[in-house]
Amino acid sequence: MRTPALLLLLLAPVLFAQPRVEYSASKKLFLLRTDSSSYAMGVNPRGEVQNLYWGGPLWRSDDIPAATGGRELSSFDPAQSVINEEFEAWGGTRYLEPAVKITRADGGRDLVLHYASHKIDGDNLSIILKDVVDDIFVTLNYRVFGPEGIIRKTALLENKSKQPIHVESLQSGTWYLPHGEDYRLSYVHGRWAAESQLTREAIHTGTKVLESRKGHTSHNFNPWFAIDDGSASEESGRVWFGALGWSGNWRIAVEQTPYSQVRVTGGLNTFDFAAPLKPGESLESPPFYGGYSENGFGGMSRRMHRFELTDILPHGLQSRLRPVLYNSWEATTFAVDEPGQRSLAEKAAKLGVELFVMDDGWFGKRNNDRAGLGDWTVNPQKFPNGLEPLAKYVNSLGMDFGLWVEPEMVNPDSDLYRAHPDWAMHSTDRPRSELRNQLVLNLARNDVKEYIFEVLDKLATQYPIRYFKWDMNRPFAEPGWENVAEPKELWLKYVKNVYEIIDRLRAKHPNLEIESCSGGGGRIDLGILQRVEEVWTSDNTEAFDRLGIQYGFSQIYAPKVMSAWVTDVPNMNSRSTPLRYRFLVAMQGALGIGANLNKWTAADATMATGMIAAYKQIRGTVQEGNLYRLLSPQAGELTANEYVSQDGKQAVLFAFLHSQQYRQSPPAIRLAGLDPKATYRVQVVGQPNKQDVSGAFLMQSGVTVRLAGDYDSTALLLERL
Ligand code: DGJ
Repeated sequence: MRTPALLLLLLAPVLFAQPRVEYSASKKLFLLRTDSSSYAMGVNPRGEVQNLYWGGPLWRSDDIPAATGGRELSSFDPAQSVINEEFEAWGGTRYLEPAVKITRADGGRDLVLHYASHKIDGDNLSIILKDVVDDIFVTLNYRVFGPEGIIRKTALLENKSKQPIHVESLQSGTWYLPHGEDYRLSYVHGRWAAESQLTREAIHTGTKVLESRKGHTSHNFNPWFAIDDGSASEESGRVWFGALGWSGNWRIAVEQTPYSQVRVTGGLNTFDFAAPLKPGESLESPPFYGGYSENGFGGMSRRMHRFELTDILPHGLQSRLRPVLYNSWEATTFAVDEPGQRSLAEKAAKLGVELFVMDDGWFGKRNNDRAGLGDWTVNPQKFPNGLEPLAKYVNSLGMDFGLWVEPEMVNPDSDLYRAHPDWAMHSTDRPRSELRNQLVLNLARNDVKEYIFEVLDKLATQYPIRYFKWDMNRPFAEPGWENVAEPKELWLKYVKNVYEIIDRLRAKHPNLEIESCSGGGGRIDLGILQRVEEVWTSDNTEAFDRLGIQYGFSQIYAPKVMSAWVTDVPNMNSRSTPLRYRFLVAMQGALGIGANLNKWTAADATMATGMIAAYKQIRGTVQEGNLYRLLSPQAGELTANEYVSQDGKQAVLFAFLHSQQYRQSPPAIRLAGLDPKATYRVQVVGQPNKQDVSGAFLMQSGVTVRLAGDYDSTALLLERL
């Protein structure tokens, strides 16, 4: 008797767990549940799918009123304007930001989507909508990531009618906020070397558009939004958030309507967009991920980070912790050669570096940025015996070998361009705009795609390359495409082909890792993150600026993917910060060294060796733990971030003082995320003394860090006893 009772108890969560996706036939209502949020939709009497709820967890679908269809307020304000239509097609009496807009071959544009059927498959829901006249279908696909608290939306548009259509807009979906709050929008914006600047502003009636029209994700805005109830803080308050998985032209429109709805529509940018769909053809939107946090912005970021680690990154939690990397760029720029790289590699290995990456300059006639891009053959003057001797030497030093490539680009001064001038993006008989003396290859073309795949495949086959740093150093211009029916398809096909190349490469070379770089942080999004291990956060490696860039970055993306190097000073802003400060800033992500090691003193090398060893002890916590942003660099002189390991056994506090004034000492820093009942052994990283302190004291009273002067820094290691 005892065994079955115990078994029942153990199985209870499984047996009685509510399904992630529930349908109430009597109310025509869908309820999606994550552990921390719920999302509800219903079919109204006219057959339109209405959004009914997005917010904290609900467990009774009976509580949710069925979709009513609303009512017309006046002849100017039809019911469709007020009902929160889940996926609004442009047709009938609809005037809000549409989720889909088409033109038929006969010129007809009206598209009115009504519920046709649905399918529930475990944590997946598909709602099939059909035009009221034609066989044009949109399937709304939802996937519930329960423990992570994330819902993914995609939309599949299928033309099963008899005539071709032109798609002018296909969005991934619309998120609706509950009525009646003074909402505030958070987003990140920036430019080259100043990415991820976080801004919060009140939402007013009208539309605010965040977007990229540059062909890549872009430094200017990141495809992410967070909306809070107007009073959320780092660790409290309600925050709704979402992010797109798309590395090309994207668009997020945040709209507060005159009917007080706040709705966020996102997907493929409609700017210069067109996709022809013949009968039988279909088009799928990129994914739009959404979540909800009741623990403020910190809770939001931890949710996003967890989700990325478990469900987005290649190999998820099976992937290795990021190795300590060395990159040659800031040390040598284009002046790479075998003896120089060997010498850097020897020094890097002695410091404890695990992955040695040779950056730009190793191929073609690449002595500066004016030539060589496109000619992916090893430069014989710099590497007379090819790359193999260097790669093998790097391996013999106990490090993996990585190589920089910029496959999407071509210098006009290159053999590739001389052979295939038509491969570069251009408008017929018009000037070709160079940026950094280079043009973008039209990767939407299949011949260009195949060429690039072959180049990379050959490199990965020929040499023991563990890691490609895949760069992209300019946006599109003159995106023409000759001899095709619809040149505007270039934007879409380009990104699909970039994804295809990476997917094929990874399938063929399963150990290969990739870093996404686009002149720093120009290609960071959840689409590329499904295909790469790291992203290059910014070309700005100046440590004080980096605190701000990393603060914005960490709102959205996990520290594990945040490539962060220690480089030489003076750096950007002509600023010099101490080596320890530079290390501690970079140790908050995937640590790399980008300095010219030939110029380092013995004391620098000793400090670096110690810091790298310390990083290896804490990197699991930093890369895969929970981040608490205790003091923001936007708020004052003192910045503090704490990382707590998933099992709670280790925590690390990083603190940075910008500049001390009036002999003032920094205030105590109250930690978070610890067990108040536990005792922690606390130690300044790099120092022998240890002290035992309770979690309660650390969180209530806090720790006093001894920081003084300018650019002082410290890190505390906490081990739970
Ligand atoms: C831009 C990157 O962001 C840098 O790190 C470096 O790889 C250069 N390109 C090389 O040209």
